[in-house]
Amino acid sequence: MRPLLFELDAAPGLADRLNAHLGADRGALARRQFPDGETYLRLETPVEGRDVILLCTLDRPDAKTLPLLFAAEAARDHGAKSVGLIAPYLAYMRQDEEFQAGEAVTSKTFARLLSGQVDWLVTIDPHLHRYPTLGALYPIPAEAAHAAGPLAEWIRHEVPEPVIVGPDEESAQWADEIASLAGARAMVLRKVRSGDYDVSIDAAGLGDLSGTPVIIDDIASSGRTLIETVELLRKAGAAAPICAVVHPIFAGDSYSELLGAGAARIVSTNSIAHDTNAIDVSGPLADAARTVLTRIGAILPHGRQLTPEARAQGGPE
Ligand code: R5P
Repeated sequence: MRPLLFELDAAPGLADRLNAHLGADRGALARRQFPDGETYLRLETPVEGRDVILLCTLDRPDAKTLPLLFAAEAARDHGAKSVGLIAPYLAYMRQDEEFQAGEAVTSKTFARLLSGQVDWLVTIDPHLHRYPTLGALYPIPAEAAHAAGPLAEWIRHEVPEPVIVGPDEESAQWADEIASLAGARAMVLRKVRSGDYDVSIDAAGLGDLSGTPVIIDDIASSGRTLIETVELLRKAGAAAPICAVVHPIFAGDSYSELLGAGAARIVSTNSIAHDTNAIDVSGPLADAARTVLTRIGAILPHGRQLTPEARAQGGPE
């Protein structure tokens, strides 16, 4: 039977594109806030025996997480065969260590919370720094799709003589791959972050500045990484840079500040709804979801509705 996809929160059009890629049906869901601020949620489409997919991007996650958990549990209670989550942006990946005594390692807690309610997870370019893979953090089948292909394609079509700039060492993984796919040069800079809004980029890594710089980053949050990189490139005499971002959170006024710093153009993927959305990532997300759905066809991690074969292999009860 076709999977059933419920949209909780996503960029406009993403759910329809995913549905088309996955051959899924669209589920209807009613949701509202009670006067006291609590959430009312109802799955209007029957889920019994269906592979349910919840689509919920998790920027500004605190307000989105409870409705997501309610939806997951409701689907399970009403007999869904499996309940998966496509979270184009996966929150709470950056606090991956206790940097100062007493800090909550929120990545761990969040992973435990989601993994307790959904059978599988798909996201795109999660911020994996100290965790080598998504599976090192999430104990459920979890797939990370990549936006490098769609980003490189956009650059190839839109940017004359691109030179890919990664603002920090972590961005090397995207910068190098995108440069190779787009047939461009890449330079990776070094960043020191001393606080949420306190970022400096080392000029020492700047190379040949001819061409159109395209700064690539996975997340634009405070925007400081991109702003500092744009300013550095402008001061060094480069052409006005283009900024290409996978996850356009753009907190506060950071978007207008980035434009004010001299970015020629800012584009992003539709992992999070933003005016800059120009690059569709429904294809890689759907491919990753298909891979996981195929895998859980054999063994469901929560042991619900196991196939006889899976039970024979000692799948979870
Ligand atoms: C950091 O390591 C990430 O790759 C991004 O560069 C960072 O999250 C961007 O954050 P902000 O916009 O706050 O500088």
